[in-house]
This record gives sequence, structure tokens and C-alpha cells, in this order.
Amino acid sequence: RKRGEKMSKLIIQGGKKLEGEVQISGSKNAALPIIAGTVLIKGKTTLYNVPNIQDVQTMFEIIKDIGGKVTKKNNKIIIDTSKIHTYEISENLMRKMRSSVILAGAIIGKYKKANFSYPGGCEIGSRPIDLHLKGFEKLGINIKEEYGEIICEADRIMGTQIHLDFPSVGATENIILASCLAEGVTVLTNAAKEPEIEDLVKFLNKAGAKIKGAGTDRVEIIGVKKLTEVSYNIMPDRIEAGTYLVAGAITGGNLKVTNLNSNHIEPILNKLEEAGCVLKIEKNTVEIKAPKRIKAVDIKTMPYPGFPTDMQSIFGALLTTAKGTSIITENIFESRYKYVQELNRMGAKINVEGRTAVIKGTKRIQGASVVASDLRGGAALVLEALVAKGVTQVDNVHYILRGYENIVDKLKNLGAKIYLED
Ligand code: EPZ
Repeated sequence: RKRGEKMSKLIIQGGKKLEGEVQISGSKNAALPIIAGTVLIKGKTTLYNVPNIQDVQTMFEIIKDIGGKVTKKNNKIIIDTSKIHTYEISENLMRKMRSSVILAGAIIGKYKKANFSYPGGCEIGSRPIDLHLKGFEKLGINIKEEYGEIICEADRIMGTQIHLDFPSVGATENIILASCLAEGVTVLTNAAKEPEIEDLVKFLNKAGAKIKGAGTDRVEIIGVKKLTEVSYNIMPDRIEAGTYLVAGAITGGNLKVTNLNSNHIEPILNKLEEAGCVLKIEKNTVEIKAPKRIKAVDIKTMPYPGFPTDMQSIFGALLTTAKGTSIITENIFESRYKYVQELNRMGAKINVEGRTAVIKGTKRIQGASVVASDLRGGAALVLEALVAKGVTQVDNVHYILRGYENIVDKLKNLGAKIYLED
């Protein structure tokens, strides 16, 4: 994080209906594993539609730290990993971002060794990496843990059968990256089916990998000798798309959200319709017209194609304004309700017990001074502020900037009264 960044805050004057058009950026959660995947490629990778956000910058920092070269031109990025000289990810950078752990699979896959520490980023509950490590071990990689450091080494990486106890997104990606260049065939079952995994696999296949079944729960990775130079366009960010649709819904607005993939956001669109929004859905755009008052709906987060946990807090904000009582059940992470306390400071009526949040809708949301404690929870505070009476100050904005490209300008263009104060 840059010096002073922690101090920056958003000032939002609520009550404006959002109107107009907003363009969705490239997906954070596709970009991160794809950037990690460039380590497997000898030579240069050109990536388009890479979102300019803090988490992506952190990934670049790690790539550079281990000897890679990153050249940026707006959202086009060229990464050259031909001069990587170390297999060790610095603890400092590892702590900055949990997704740094997916670099481990790529580094081991290419160099047969990797040292790293337990990743940071624990604001949404304990996030173990046991499934990643079990997968590595099955591939023939030896793992030693010393003083919090994880040391991985293999003579050969051998194709095998791996069954995941839970369809973890990160473990699926890490195992794919580690086995791309393995000897023989790896079959991964109970794999995660998220669209970001399909995007990673499309990228790897374009570079010469042989991977089948991405997007289903059975992924087959046929080892190849090498991956070669490639250019690739990152898929749109489905959570960013969902967030702007909800910004339209919560403010009683009328928006056109462009450059998205509507197939990826079906569970989100279903819930918006159930809540009374009128949608016009096309392949790459969705128009939303909010009802006079949102209806209460129940939500259960699930692995894809279920309702995404990353949208849980976003709908949490929306439903505080609904007519009636909604129930949210968070099934993916054990503690992803930190934002609730802040929303309640603004007049929301949410009660959390374990994995369940009961939300009694109200018309009286008031501006207040609130603090973001994670990316999506922070975005929920911004949405609530857009509909609140009066002025809201959101502190710890750096969490939000980790995952939303140009959020302040995009909201301003839709008519929101929002300012970033450093
Ligand atoms: C990815 O995280 C996303 N991050 C998250 O996005 C998202 O919330 C999550 O998937 C679920 O969809 C990226 O893609 C970079 P998991 P990941 O492994 O891979 C447990 C956002 O806001 N688990 O599928 O870390 C774990 O504790 C975020 O953009 C184990 O028990 O998620 C959790 O309860 C944050 N052992 C569940 O599985 C393991 O070894 C799902 O985690 C791994 C995971």
C-alpha cells in the first residue's frame, strides 16, 4: 500500500437516482491466476483488459520481485518471465494478498520448487490452504513447513487423480497451474466451476496447454512439454457487473451496464428480478430499471453456478431498503458479515447469527461515518451511502480500490455525488 493511502476516504451524498451507462472492466479474479500463469510461459505474454486495481499491482510486484518484467500501457500488459531467478515469494508481498498463493502452483509447475509463507488477507474468516497443499503432494511434490515457511520441491511432477473435498476456486487453479507441464494426465474431480477457471484454462490452452473440462467439476490436464508466447483478453468482472446493477437497483435508478457476460451473472439477475427489478438482458449488456420499492428476497451463497459469496454483502445492502424481511445464508466463508455492524450504524436493521443474517427492510437509512474492513463489505457501504439521507464518510477505502477499477469516476458518471479525499 502506498504511504498515506490508508487515510483516504470517500464522501458520499446520498439520494441521487443513478442513470446512464457504465462499462465493466476486466475480471480481477481471472486476471490474478492468469498473471500467475505467465510464469509457465517462456517469453512474453500480452494481456488485454487487465483491470488497473491494487490487487493486480501487487501481483505485478511479486512477478517483478522474482525477476519478471512487466510493461504497462493502460489495460494492456506485457509480461516477460524468461529471466525469473528465484523460487521464493517474499513474505512481505505474500502477506499483502491471499491470491499470491496461486503463484506457488505456477512456480512449482515450471521450476519444480517454490518457497512461500502462509498468505495474508484474512478479513473474511479463516482461509486455509490445505486443499492446495494436498493437491501438490498428490502430484509428487514434497512439502516441508519450517517456521511458517512452506518449502515445496519435486524431482518430477507426475499426473494423478485428485479429488477435492470442497470445490475451492484457488485450489482448482493452483492444481491446474502445477500440473500443466507435468508428466502424464491429471484428473481433478469436484473441481470448482467458476467462469474465472474457464478463463484461466482458455488462456493456458491458447499458450499450448491441453486442458479439458474447465467449467465442469471434472478437469483433465494432459501434461505438455512447454507453453509458448501468447496474447489474451481477460473476461469481464462478473462481481463488478453485479455491483453496478445493484447500484441501479438500490437508488431507484435506470442503468445500462455494458461489456459484461450475462451468462456469468444469471443467479444475480434472477435475484434482481425476484426483487422486482425490470431487466433487459442481452449477451453483453444488461439494462436495469428499479421498482418503486425493492421486494425482500432470500439468498443462499453457493459455489458457481449458485449465488456468489462475493455478492452477499452487495445484496445485504440492497435488502436493507426492501419491503419486508430477507434472510441471507452465507455458506462459503465463516465470517463475511463485518459490514453489517457498519450498515446498522446507518439505520439498517440486520441481525446476524452464525451464517445467517436476517434483514428487516426500512426506508430510514441515514448517512454516517463508517469503516470498510474488506473489499466487498466496503462496496456494500458505498451502495448504502448512495441511498442514505445526508452524507456518509467511508474510511479505509484502500480495501475497495483493491477490486474496483475507477469506482469513483464510474459512479460520478452515473450521477452519484461521490468524492475521494486523500
Ligand atoms: C476465490 O477465493 C476468490 N478470489 C474470492 O474472491 C471468492 O470469494 C472465493 O473464490 C469464493 O468464490 C480469487 O479468485 C482471487 P476458495 P479463494 O478457495 O480461491 C475453504 C473477492 O471478493 N478452503 O474457493 O480463496 C475456504 O476457507 C474474493 O473478490 C479450505 O478450507 O476461495 C472457504 O471457506 C475474496 N481449504 C472456501 O473453501 C483450502 O485449501 C472457499 O474458498 C481452500 C479453501
